[in-house]
Amino acid sequence: MDKKISTRDKILLILQENKGKYISGEEIASQINLSRNAVWKGIKKLKISGYEINSVAAKGYCLTSAKNIISISNIESKLEYKDFYTIEYKDEVSSTNTILKEEAIEGAVEGRVLIANAQTQGRGRLNRNFYSPENTGIYMSILLRPKLDINQALMITTAAAVSVCQGIEKASGKASGIKWVNDIFIEDKKVCGILTEAGINLESKTLDYAILGIGINIANPENEFPSEIKSIAGSIFEASPPENIKNILISEILNSFLNIYKDLPEDSYIEEYIKRSIIIGKNVTLIKDGKNYEVKVLDIDNQCRLKIKNGDKIEYINSGEVSLKL
Ligand code: BTN
Repeated sequence: MDKKISTRDKILLILQENKGKYISGEEIASQINLSRNAVWKGIKKLKISGYEINSVAAKGYCLTSAKNIISISNIESKLEYKDFYTIEYKDEVSSTNTILKEEAIEGAVEGRVLIANAQTQGRGRLNRNFYSPENTGIYMSILLRPKLDINQALMITTAAAVSVCQGIEKASGKASGIKWVNDIFIEDKKVCGILTEAGINLESKTLDYAILGIGINIANPENEFPSEIKSIAGSIFEASPPENIKNILISEILNSFLNIYKDLPEDSYIEEYIKRSIIIGKNVTLIKDGKNYEVKVLDIDNQCRLKIKNGDKIEYINSGEVSLKL
């Protein structure tokens, strides 16, 4: 029985029994009959999971907080559609999208959700990286097998954008908006990015699978955002986030998303997508094939195309390879 408990969890039990007090690495090592180095590695893993553990030379380790740990059972207890989702949590992965994509190709069923506390190779749109440090974000992907044609694929991203905004509002009370097509903003900072990647059945021109990836900044990272995203990136909570917020937010998003997804390609949610747009009426820089165009956004239509004024011309833009700067 005892064999099933990992070293990490054995150390966690000892730290929890001594919560708020320091216990030396030597003492922990002797209690679980392992080396101090193994204890040190276990502590490192617990920190990656989000446990706040102080390490002080000559005193040892002290568990100070475990209030924002991602917990599958906590998330599941709040789900409206318990049968649809199968959730897995990992402390650290390369990219939740990459992993689920491999599983989708191997035939995994719809509704798999992979959540990580950190990503080493988080990916964003247009081959960009997505900064995914431990503890301060939620990195999650959902495997879907939607009954949609290829030209309806964008609905996954736009439905997710609306769900993330609804989830943020329910969980934090904060108003959020959508920067076409896949970014969620609070005030003038990007707090969430969405990346949908799809496998296509070329004969039927339908989607074989779609991986919906959502990355949310909950709190500012310990070492600040990297300089290249510092001016634009923000978090839902700048200071300390409330207890259990990650589990609450994840379940709210999963609930909101399924409420829209189950009726796709029904598109009544687009109305909310458009209402939440933060770019309609604004002058923006549109970047296409490496060129910049200063345009005015007039509207978003019900296929989520951008209606813009480019000089004297009115144009409709599909999201494809385009990006926007506010
Ligand atoms: C973007 O801002 O361009 C989209 C970012 C999407 C990030 C999420 S985090 C979970 C999932 N795994 C990834 O590698 N990317 C997505």
